[in-house]
Amino acid sequence: MQISSKSVQGPEQLRSPCLVVGVHAKGGLRGAAKAIDAAAGGVISRLQKRGDVSGDWASTLLLPTLDGIKAERVLLVGLGHGIPVGENDYRKLTQTVLNALIDQKVEEAHWLLDDIIVLERDNSWQLTQLAMAATLREYRYTETLSKPKAPLALRRLHIDDSGAAARAAIARGIAIGRGMNLSRRLGDLPGNLCTPSFLAKEARALTRKHAKLHASVLEEKAMRELGMGALLAVAAGSEQPAKLIVVEYRGGKRGAAPQVLVGKGITFDSGGISIKPGPKMDEMKYDMCGAASVLGTLSAVAELKLPINVVGIIAASENLPSGSATKPGDVITSLSGQTIEVLNTDAEGRLVLCDALTYAARFRPAAVIDIATLTGACVVALGKHASGLFSNQDDFARQLLEAGREVGDRAWQLPLWDDYQKQLDSNFADMANIGGPAGGSITAACFLARFTRDYRWAHLDIAGTAWDEGGAKGATGRPVGLLTQYLIHCAA
Ligand code: BES
Ligand code: MN
Ligand code: ZN
Repeated sequence: MQISSKSVQGPEQLRSPCLVVGVHAKGGLRGAAKAIDAAAGGVISRLQKRGDVSGDWASTLLLPTLDGIKAERVLLVGLGHGIPVGENDYRKLTQTVLNALIDQKVEEAHWLLDDIIVLERDNSWQLTQLAMAATLREYRYTETLSKPKAPLALRRLHIDDSGAAARAAIARGIAIGRGMNLSRRLGDLPGNLCTPSFLAKEARALTRKHAKLHASVLEEKAMRELGMGALLAVAAGSEQPAKLIVVEYRGGKRGAAPQVLVGKGITFDSGGISIKPGPKMDEMKYDMCGAASVLGTLSAVAELKLPINVVGIIAASENLPSGSATKPGDVITSLSGQTIEVLNTDAEGRLVLCDALTYAARFRPAAVIDIATLTGACVVALGKHASGLFSNQDDFARQLLEAGREVGDRAWQLPLWDDYQKQLDSNFADMANIGGPAGGSITAACFLARFTRDYRWAHLDIAGTAWDEGGAKGATGRPVGLLTQYLIHCAA
């Protein structure tokens, strides 16, 4: 979809397949609605009097033909009482309007809703949100269907606004939306296609689209030489070779400390020898959504040409049982030198991540964020609305929480107190890989914290937010929004 901005004078003169125009619940017609009403012989006022147009917030009414104006259709959108609204009200409105345009198969529309005030957010925020919402509607999963789905009919959206700030705000929304769509596609692909090797190929393909992106892949042999015993222990049961994928975005000064993103890339998590129960096991194809969000975020950052350095590290492996698989009770040695007693092979995310997090220190990072579908306990704690956030520096946590609120991709902080650390005690290794049922998301984060002492670090548990289940089953593209927004702040 092409999303552009230009200020509109005389909406009644505008040749457009559809004008999107606001009407208020009280106080007469204003702006575009007033001009159209005058040109079209008072039809909107009559509808209002008759009660067909309430003006209630986010109500819509499509007028399929109107005499006296150049546009083919007018979509009336209720703007309520013209008082400042909350962020979610604005998002609901954009969704409803996009739905109306898409349901009517409108190919091109002019968005003339320009007098909405959102509490504590400026006009740029609205433009970014709108462009992001529109871009997300383009996503179609078709790769394993014998007949492709029809593409979105809505091809062009013109927004009544002008200037460099508006253009930049729209560009941010589009870049985030596209990054999320990339991440959704990788998440939705089945585990038989989306393997660690496939993720490596996709990472390389992404670097071919942007000159400032560079990829390299560590193979199992190199991992063995380095001593990545934890990552390799997870890969031990699989026929598919593990990959440690590194994608560097060089947009900042040479030598400027990078922001590092580390993604869990388990392309299928069966649990390994500690095998999972059958129901919903298919959803464990989504266990690489952290990795997908790293690629989606790098895509957005490269598209926006942010003047910073970013490194993406993806720890990719399958987790399967076999004669060569790691067993409960096995003790392994991580890249950090710390030994780990694997009490449950289904707690594999922290094992691949701990080696990737140790590796991340090589880049002398300004900060490291890992992103992982790490624990079912996080879904129990926070449900599907917020990602779990942990950090070893509270001001860093606050920055990430704020970035998530701004873009509508929220996280919620959980404690990382030392009190929980003793749940990881082991008689046979430096630590166990599970801490029992109490505070499962927290002990998982505490495990990772033992590998991230030397830098500013945050961990996002996206087990609840990375995909939707049921009839609308599909990857969400989260937390590409939060991460990209944070990096936009870093670049400012
Ligand atoms: N990938 C899962 C976590 C998960 C489960 C995410 C369900 C989303 C939905 C992870 O590898 C896992 O299996 N975690 C275990 C940890 C446990 C063995 C300590 C879990 O959450 O049950
Ligand atoms: Mn698991
Ligand atoms: Zn997992």
